[in-house]
Amino acid sequence: MLADVKILLEKARLGKYAVGAFNTVNLETTRAIIDTAKELSAPVIVEITERTFDYAGGRAIFQLVKNIAEFYAPEIPVGIHLDHGKSFEAVERAMDIGFTSVMYDGSRKVYVDNVMTTKKIVETAHSRGIVVQAELGNVPYLGEMQMENIEWEKYMTDPDQAVQFVKETDIDTLAVAIGNAHGFFRERSSPDYERLERIAKSVSIPLVLHGASDWNNGRVKEVIERGISCFNVDTAIQLAMIGGLREALTSETETDLRKVLGRGREYAKNTIKEKILAFGSAGKA
Ligand code: 13P
Ligand code: ZN
Repeated sequence: MLADVKILLEKARLGKYAVGAFNTVNLETTRAIIDTAKELSAPVIVEITERTFDYAGGRAIFQLVKNIAEFYAPEIPVGIHLDHGKSFEAVERAMDIGFTSVMYDGSRKVYVDNVMTTKKIVETAHSRGIVVQAELGNVPYLGEMQMENIEWEKYMTDPDQAVQFVKETDIDTLAVAIGNAHGFFRERSSPDYERLERIAKSVSIPLVLHGASDWNNGRVKEVIERGISCFNVDTAIQLAMIGGLREALTSETETDLRKVLGRGREYAKNTIKEKILAFGSAGKA
């Protein structure tokens, strides 16, 4: 059944576990996410990016996720969320499609501009009963910079500014930067746990961690204990699925596409299962 993302994450915050927000791109990844959540009785968030809107069609992918959640997993709370909306127009489009949870990512803008657009989106969203995530500091992407020489201080969330940002914008959840980065590659040698603790102590809304799908379970546990209530997971699912497809494609006699795609789905499910168990959300539906 469709669920309110804010309620899912508030429950996680109080219960000291994290909900997985898994990116979908098609039927296979959607079934992998929702079927695994159902098997583990876990609340889950299925998230979609603007790139996937372009690939699948925004309405098509939204309705696909909604129908699977409603018809095949009525007992599991499933949130549907726009991941990394980059403009007011993109977020508005998602709201018109039916999303009840959206992210506006103004993290590349200067602080005042991030505040201005986030605030405008929150006003519109809240008047429609929609929840908003925003990002402060910046979670970098693989390949966009020389990661070896990255000056992490420039990217990380300033705890004092976070307090001000939440107050000024009235957002529902906050994506933080503590040394995490999108994609699989060497990140900061250790996350800035102390910074996370300071943010969690002074901000009373759920905190979201992006770009950590390559983190080991030890790190995952450490940040949940210090206040992370949601993990965004994309690369780990895509790599697992591609691995399954690659293996299935080695048979030159296979003519059933469902068997090839099905192998990819199974691999994705295994990865999602590992993540949900590490996040501690199994059995929390
Ligand atoms: P990864 O691609 O590193 O899994 O990050 C996912 C993410 O942050 C999606 O918003
Ligand atoms: Zn992200």
